[in-house]
Amino acid sequence: MEVRWALRSYRPIMAHTIRATGLRKRYGAVRAVDGVSLEAGEGEFLGVLGPNGAGKTTLLEMIEGLREPDEGEVTVLGLPVWPRNAALLPRIGVQLQATSFFERLTAREQLRTFASLYGASGARADAMLETVGLAAKADTRVEKLSGGQAQRLSIACALVHDPEVVFLDEPTAALDPQARRNLWDVLRAISTGGRTVVLTTHSMDEAETLCDRVAIMDEGRVLELGPPAALVRGLDVPARVSVPSGRLPRAEAAALPGALDAADDGVSLVVSTRDPAAVLAAMGARDALDGVQVRGATLEDVFLHRIGREYRA
Ligand SMILES: Nc1ncnc2c1ncn2[C@@H]1O[C@H](COP(=O)(O)OP(=O)(O)OP(=O)(O)O)[C@@H](O)[C@H]1O
Ligand SMILES: [Mg+2]
Repeated sequence: MEVRWALRSYRPIMAHTIRATGLRKRYGAVRAVDGVSLEAGEGEFLGVLGPNGAGKTTLLEMIEGLREPDEGEVTVLGLPVWPRNAALLPRIGVQLQATSFFERLTAREQLRTFASLYGASGARADAMLETVGLAAKADTRVEKLSGGQAQRLSIACALVHDPEVVFLDEPTAALDPQARRNLWDVLRAISTGGRTVVLTTHSMDEAETLCDRVAIMDEGRVLELGPPAALVRGLDVPARVSVPSGRLPRAEAAALPGALDAADDGVSLVVSTRDPAAVLAAMGARDALDGVQVRGATLEDVFLHRIGREYRA
């Protein structure tokens, strides 16, 4: 069997926990997913990025076996996902973008119901409630939870049966900063434990922090697929060296060795350069390094470069 290496963890991973080939889905004239093939290995953390309407949710739902593709095939854990495969259900965890709960249950009852459907214990459900920080809301009815609390509960429902493959559609969209960091820790632990995680997000720092690889989608297609660091390195954009305004006149900064350009907005002087070391050395020689910051390209630059800056529908 083919063996690959997970970049983040340097563990050998078996290929193809998820294998999607030639997926297409149309809604009338809209090509929501327009020929996507991708794979994820055991223990891999895969991110799907893209503007609103790019096709992320449609793609995930086809991979989860919740939506029938017009064309193409998906296997998860070696099994076809469509028509719905009952053997797969206990082995995968799904958090949908639009949350829906059983009505009139409390948070604890909701999670225990999910747990019992998949043979997980009540104790495990209660522990999961604790993990997502909802123990204090255990007796609150689901319709009375705040948006972020409801999102945490839906994440707990996706994870309660310790699934081998986890799909999360914008899991951190409604979360406060602490909850977001806590969820990152939970997801990292799951991934390190050998579970495969697929997540969509609009947060580039989240993708950069968590994902072994990211797929950048637009208009139903995957434009880029690779480790975030490799995508960033492949992008030829200058670094930006900034110091507080007043350290150096703009014209002098623009003429420093290695400088391409300099701009000063009255708060910061920003020098763009492909040779930050040369610029830093020249600034140091002028005693102008106090408060310096150097910013290289990020995944957000890759995203904006590939997608452009116009609004999408
Ligand atoms: N059930 C549906 N019926 C008709 N059109 C749909 C349906 N679901 C999605 N679409 C269309 O398919 C396209 C892709 O939608 P999708 O929900 O997959 O995007 P997305 O990348 O998840 O966007 P977002 O970031 O806003 O969640 C959009 O143009 C959307 O209007
Ligand atoms: Mg979506």
